[in-house]
Amino acid sequence: NKIRKYVTPLAVLPVLAPARREAGGADHYLVGVRQFRQQMLPRGMPRTTVWGYGDVSNPRGFRTPSATIEASVDRPVRVTWVNELVDASGGYRPHLLAVDPTLHWANPPGGSTGRDTRPAFTATPGPYRGPVPIVTHLHGGRSLQDSCGYPEAWYLPEARDIPRGHATVGTFYDEFGDEFAQRHGAAWKPGSATFHYGNDQRAATLWYHDHTLGMTRVNVYAGLSGFFLLRGGSGDLAPGVLPGPAPGPNDRPGTRYYEIPLMVQDRSFNADGSLFYPASRAFTDDAGPYVPNGPFPPIWNPAFLANTMTVNGSTWPVLEVEPRRYRLRLLNGCNSRVLIMKLVTERLAPRPAPAALPIWQIGNDGGFLPEPVSQRQLLLGPAERADVIVDFTGLREGTELYLINEGPDELCADDFDPSDPATTGQVMKFTVGRLTGKDRSVPPEHLELPRIRPLGRASRTRRLALDEQLGDDQSIKMMLCTIDADGRAKPQHWHSPVTERPALHATEVWELHNWSAHAHPIHLHVVQFEVLGRGKDGTQPPRPGDRGMKDTVLTFPGEITRVKATFDLAGRYVWHCHLLEHEDNDMMRPFRVG
Ligand code: C2O
Ligand code: CU
Repeated sequence: NKIRKYVTPLAVLPVLAPARREAGGADHYLVGVRQFRQQMLPRGMPRTTVWGYGDVSNPRGFRTPSATIEASVDRPVRVTWVNELVDASGGYRPHLLAVDPTLHWANPPGGSTGRDTRPAFTATPGPYRGPVPIVTHLHGGRSLQDSCGYPEAWYLPEARDIPRGHATVGTFYDEFGDEFAQRHGAAWKPGSATFHYGNDQRAATLWYHDHTLGMTRVNVYAGLSGFFLLRGGSGDLAPGVLPGPAPGPNDRPGTRYYEIPLMVQDRSFNADGSLFYPASRAFTDDAGPYVPNGPFPPIWNPAFLANTMTVNGSTWPVLEVEPRRYRLRLLNGCNSRVLIMKLVTERLAPRPAPAALPIWQIGNDGGFLPEPVSQRQLLLGPAERADVIVDFTGLREGTELYLINEGPDELCADDFDPSDPATTGQVMKFTVGRLTGKDRSVPPEHLELPRIRPLGRASRTRRLALDEQLGDDQSIKMMLCTIDADGRAKPQHWHSPVTERPALHATEVWELHNWSAHAHPIHLHVVQFEVLGRGKDGTQPPRPGDRGMKDTVLTFPGEITRVKATFDLAGRYVWHCHLLEHEDNDMMRPFRVG
């Protein structure tokens, strides 16, 4: 591994500028998805071809992770997401990575119309090279179904050479196209979709990313993710209480930031700087040959853990900090890697390493915790967020601290070896510089966090299971199951009829029985839930960082994780495992409210 660490300054993610702000109305954004090159590896090494979002009128603003959307509680945001994966001549760009056409996936060549789009293996097996479908999901957002980024609400770019017979939009529009057209009316152009975010929810660290059926793992890995920060309302603190400012849309160069979002993602690179993601099943130990009409997907792997760590799009960056408090919003944006992060002084110290500074967690997925928690280490599954305060006050100039990772280099199981201390066991470095002004933020141990309104009583309990099965043919199958009153499990597939149908405004407990050998981060769209309990019988209290409101919860093998949610927006949504490889291969189910 010849990549030098801690030579690249951390990129502070820019903030997206709205195309239009309506007085007393909504903020409008026009956001494209494009292909471009970015310096992810240290300077002097090749640049990497990636995908990212950006303001269509500012070609230089495209990057991965993409610019942050800053939103205020109760002030709506409308985003027109434009699929611009076309080249200079208007022809479509094929995928950067290998798309497995044998999964249950978007499948444009299969044509449209609501049916199971899973194709039969064809005589010419190989990755799909056609135009790329996209659809964006606001993760943690309280969005109506036609703005929620339903996996079958994808659409192709408007390109001159879309092959004949290809569907240009997903089957979602067969069913809900009228509603969609009505709400989005004249704004609907081919190759784009306008989504409405009401922002009538608590202030929280949300994020947006691609959610195309059977392709989410490769679309997100190629670069399609960014932060969406929601502020204000009664669920937020008064300005000045926490360390700030955060980046804004019109900052002067040289502005110093004390609130910084950090998106942690693992990536592997080829020698020419291009992204590496396995293009065949042969990559894993449990490999089989590529068999046309064979029993298991030829390209899909049950997980991918890459061999470098990036933060905000650079490998192993360094941030110079002042000896004062910082608010860091951490997001695990990895496809399958569970992170266990710690601040230490010796980056190569034997694991487990002694923590040098506590990490004060003040918030998670759905906003602030009931109270600040001092943590020695921070456990984050894919898609989980932690809003934290790190206090560098009193540290001498020149002090070096490392954010390390003691999570596993494989799918998270019951016991595991911490990741390689020399590579994926390190994340980023902080170097203490000089204080430039007084820190007026409140010390974390004295913070009073906003009150959280508890959810009402649940009217029913659903029992659901997460399972995986290994076939004689070495195929591996992840699944979600319903459990009936007699305790019998029934595997449910993406295209099986909807079984979770909460009544509108109902409050329900969902018991997630993890019968598999691995931890799975389970995510429900449209709601924020309470974690009620965990452990062998689901009665142990949640971890301190899982208190408050969550939209993704890490469920451990052999445990029952109980969550409670109120379903108060009608429509068809999804719940799924957020290991992107799993959700892409059937570990995802629709649910219907009302
Ligand atoms: Cu972050 Cu359904 O996804
Ligand atoms: Cu999973």
